[in-house]
Amino acid sequence: MPIHASPNAWVLETHSTAYALGINASGALVHRYWGPRLPYPADYPPARDFGEWSSFYGRSEINLEEYPAYGGASYREPCFKATFADRVRDTVLEFRSSEVQGDELQIVLEDAFYPLGVTLHYRALEAFDLLERWVTVHNFGPDPIRLERIFSAQWHLSILEDYRLSHLGGRWLEEFQLVQEPLTHGVKVLESRRITSGHQNYPWFALDRADAPALEERGELWFGVLEWSGNWKATFERTEFGSTRVGIGLNDWDFALLLGEGESFVAPKSVAGYSSTGFGGASRALHRRVRSSLPHGDAPHKVLYNSWEATGFEVNEAGQMELAEIAASLGVELFVMDDGWFHGRNSDAAGLGDWWPDERKFPHGLEPLISRVNAHGMDFGLWLEPEMVSIESDLYRAHPDWAIHFPTRARTEMRNQLILNLAKLEVQDHLIARIDGLLSSLNIKFIKWDMNRNASEPGWDGAQEPRALWVRYVEGVYRVWDTLRQRHPNVTFQSCSGGGGRADLAMLTRADQVWPSDNTEPTTRLEIQHGASYVLPACALEAWVTDMESERMPPFGRGESALRRGKMPLEFRFHASMCGVLGIGANLLHWDESEREQARALIEQYKAIQPIVQNGELFRLKSPIKGAFSALEYLSPDRTEGVLFAFRTHLSEPVVLPPLRLAGLEREALYQMDGLEGPLSGTALMNVGISLELKDFSSVLWRFYRV
Ligand code: GLA
Repeated sequence: MPIHASPNAWVLETHSTAYALGINASGALVHRYWGPRLPYPADYPPARDFGEWSSFYGRSEINLEEYPAYGGASYREPCFKATFADRVRDTVLEFRSSEVQGDELQIVLEDAFYPLGVTLHYRALEAFDLLERWVTVHNFGPDPIRLERIFSAQWHLSILEDYRLSHLGGRWLEEFQLVQEPLTHGVKVLESRRITSGHQNYPWFALDRADAPALEERGELWFGVLEWSGNWKATFERTEFGSTRVGIGLNDWDFALLLGEGESFVAPKSVAGYSSTGFGGASRALHRRVRSSLPHGDAPHKVLYNSWEATGFEVNEAGQMELAEIAASLGVELFVMDDGWFHGRNSDAAGLGDWWPDERKFPHGLEPLISRVNAHGMDFGLWLEPEMVSIESDLYRAHPDWAIHFPTRARTEMRNQLILNLAKLEVQDHLIARIDGLLSSLNIKFIKWDMNRNASEPGWDGAQEPRALWVRYVEGVYRVWDTLRQRHPNVTFQSCSGGGGRADLAMLTRADQVWPSDNTEPTTRLEIQHGASYVLPACALEAWVTDMESERMPPFGRGESALRRGKMPLEFRFHASMCGVLGIGANLLHWDESEREQARALIEQYKAIQPIVQNGELFRLKSPIKGAFSALEYLSPDRTEGVLFAFRTHLSEPVVLPPLRLAGLEREALYQMDGLEGPLSGTALMNVGISLELKDFSSVLWRFYRV
């Protein structure tokens, strides 16, 4: 049973973890426990009252309040802050009732004086070993309430321990970089202020004990994510009394929501978990959860070709047809035309908003190209950047007021473009009509939905509370996607934002995959995929084989690492991309017949292993961050077969690679593996490991199965 409830104490249990909360002697709702599932309900610690507070100890200094509001003698990072119509800015949330509905627990809190309700929602996701938390805020009264901070959850860690924080930092071309640091006294903030979830920080965290750090497959880890595609904030607070707490939710920077009479607001979900099998166990739980909420579930993702790196804005009917013919001959299943196809789009200086085919490049529209692509047995996909408008466009000339702006300020252009205000219903409806028109009149099966700048001058003319833009914009984006998906359920969407700028879990309930980075150089891409894999499964990570060379930028936050110059061997590039959803983005006209032959064979091999990589379990055997020799293992869901990828970039001499130990196998079972003579036991493969001989800049893909 996932939820044990009594009138003043609750325990949520998943397959192997548990979370407990309760009302303490002072009547406050407090955190009790988060960790491995315990044998009996009585095992969970009681709701403790941490006692008196004196002149310098505020209410929440030591008490583990479950959902602290800003109010009273409280100096901690609150989860909630509001201003009432009479300008009182102090909230006193009191417990009223609780209810269990299936796997969901609801705890109803109400303000002691004002008609404000906050319902805390908890779900025990038993099968995924994860918890979900979010809140609904209600205004029961006639006067508006201004909400100024709404976190979805506060996650408490066990007190008087020192922790290490792991998170994912990054930037354009270098997303998903793992950062690990001790969590010291004070507050550490991770956030996005850009209107998307952002390249700079990913809404994921993991904490482990400083004196017992988690490893890949061992050790305890507490982790969480926020399912939200806009501005978010996570606060990691370590108090002077040694308690550690994580608040996560919408960003309160430049933020306010006005809740009118009878209105409610539902905050995004925070998903969290506890792993006793280190980072590997934590990410496999998140992978299962992400896979289960993808629009098309575990349906195989088609091997795609994308023309962007080959043609840039120079697209036209003949050129695309030529590429499509070669792509089809290699075994590509989906041909995607990227930027440059629509009215007036010859560079990034014009055209966004005018979503009809450029008359010069496609004099007969897109139909002839799509028919040709279909005749080659491939589906057709198209790039769109619907949230944007170029100053140089018919749409902007007709509706300059649709762009996000302050009337008295210059409109900062980034990549020569402005953002449409999707908080406005008329803008949403316009986009729905335009894109619906394209999808209804043409045989389009895939949309790469891009978003290539961040917000600035965030005005919203006519709004009662313009600071709600940050949230209402994102809700507008969701409405457009959801309406289109409902009308065109067979279309697959990809979420791109200059690479991985909007790759969060809320997008991945609408898109089946994300474009993790514009960096397709395979050695840095291995690092980006490695970081992304802490949260995202392989099936959500589109990965193209291109001709991109390195080195473009200094490594993120680190000193000079392995030498990466020139183009990696084609096989290495394919193997790196086969660890995600394989695509090709190179200019196929530049590949000679032997390269095409090799590509054909590798695509065929990929199709054979695709179900294991996409729907299987990932074991990160050796990190590409820690050295020039890295390896990944994918096991089929029933763990009877697997795929091993190993990469070597550059190691200084002498070079004897360390043994590579596999993971997740049955100890007594025998496994036959490519490249080895006889079958070996799981114990041997996991404890002794295998020796690989890899030259500089080479890779292997070995399959294995249980005999
Ligand atoms: C962004 C995307 C690229 C490409 C270009 C087109 O940068 O991330 O993949 O689509 O836009 O302008």
